[in-house]
Amino acid sequence: DYSKPFENAPDTDWSLRKNAFWIIQKIEQEKSQEIEQIPLQVGGDLILTEDLGQGVDPSKNMPLYQYSLANLELVEKALDVAEAAQSGWAARTIEERARVLKDVAVEIERKRGESIAVMVREAGKAVVEADAEVSEAIDFANYYAESLSWEGMLDGVEYTPLGVVVITPPWNFPFAIPCGGVLAALMAGNTVIMKPAPESVYTAWVMTQQLWDAGVPRDTLQFVPCPDNEVGRSLVASKRVGAVVLTGAFETGIMFQSWKPDMRLFAETSGKNSLIITNAADPDQAIKDLVKGSFGHAGQKCSASSLAILEADVYDNAAFMRQLKDAVESLAVGQSWDLSSVMTPLMVEPESNLERALTTLDEGEEWLIEPKMLEGNPRLWSPGVKLGVKKGSWYHKAECFGPVLGVMRAENVEEAMRIQNDSDFGLTGGIHTLDDREVAVWREQVEVGNAYINRPITGAIVRRQPFGGWKKSCFGPGAKAGGPNYVSIFASWKQVDAPK
Ligand code: ALA
Repeated sequence: DYSKPFENAPDTDWSLRKNAFWIIQKIEQEKSQEIEQIPLQVGGDLILTEDLGQGVDPSKNMPLYQYSLANLELVEKALDVAEAAQSGWAARTIEERARVLKDVAVEIERKRGESIAVMVREAGKAVVEADAEVSEAIDFANYYAESLSWEGMLDGVEYTPLGVVVITPPWNFPFAIPCGGVLAALMAGNTVIMKPAPESVYTAWVMTQQLWDAGVPRDTLQFVPCPDNEVGRSLVASKRVGAVVLTGAFETGIMFQSWKPDMRLFAETSGKNSLIITNAADPDQAIKDLVKGSFGHAGQKCSASSLAILEADVYDNAAFMRQLKDAVESLAVGQSWDLSSVMTPLMVEPESNLERALTTLDEGEEWLIEPKMLEGNPRLWSPGVKLGVKKGSWYHKAECFGPVLGVMRAENVEEAMRIQNDSDFGLTGGIHTLDDREVAVWREQVEVGNAYINRPITGAIVRRQPFGGWKKSCFGPGAKAGGPNYVSIFASWKQVDAPK
């Protein structure tokens, strides 16, 4: 019932010592066990293949585990199974499928500690961030469970699932995002083939097992890691697939479409997000929220604030800059299992855009804080802040996805807004100001899917901040994950009418 308040799953209270002890134990347990070669799951069978992918331990930048990769034949078999299972799954009532999703929520909560530990180990996620991801997955399950039964939604309208849905999730939210995509597609009566991100197969595997354990049938959700060659393409671009869900880079979306131009693609893609701080902002709060949005999960969020656009008086204020410097320098950089770490190892070695952002200054730019590689580990970096980023420059436009914040100066709020909207992307954006008139103009004009006022621009919560962008940050209808119309995009809707 959508009129009832939705209760989000609470995160763990880390101020309690018992919770800290609990998670330290879970992490130690996780780290003490070998990860066996991860199989595929096709048609209920667990299959070990000879073609292997390699999972990496970000804390040491060393091999951690191996996983099985599909071949063309196994992809075809998974598609056969998914097609055959679909009518049976769709024949279950909405209430029956909702029951399965509710059971999934309970199972994920039951395994919260284990899942956090897995993300700490494989994804280098700080405990707080991993914990929030588990909460988000639970929210997706409980929220999507109710998404098809809202009063009036089915009045005179019938729906037909799209068929087989392929989920291609990102590595930066390795638990919650694949889980949300799978559950939305399942809720609408589709069967699902999960093709996990190569960088986070282990977390996806652990999550998928929780879904099976909670009652999602194994033919209804299959686990099929694919190499990114003709095998992956044969799955994503198959004529037998009704829709593909992608969270990843804009270029990947373009590549998918080039494979199959009539593909039904629901994608949340790249962002280059900024936070404006005007002369009317509360500087203490603005710096706190900026730093959280820029350096949470070491900046590896599509929602991260990669740019701060400061109105001239703020930019020219030495005290503000000193405070920003102090705030960023005080972020604890360290391993993910250390509860005090905020900045943890990166999930991929910096290359292309991120490498350039971490190591290069363009004309007029200078480091307020120069990022440094630590412990000889190319994945462990201290945070960087570059000043003097110019309008239209490379850093103004490029998505970098890591622990760098660029700071720009704007003459006034109007110019700050022009700079903010001068982007190919439109995922998140923010403003810090205590002036209601500035807020009113900004909220009307900002070109982003998630517009945040006087708060960090990351950390969307299911139902409270349905998440998804504009412009090149989105392919498809732009329905927002964790929002009211998301599940409905996974079905075709039929208006049936007959004279009475
Ligand atoms: N949904 C994630 C966030 O809001 C990406 O930060």
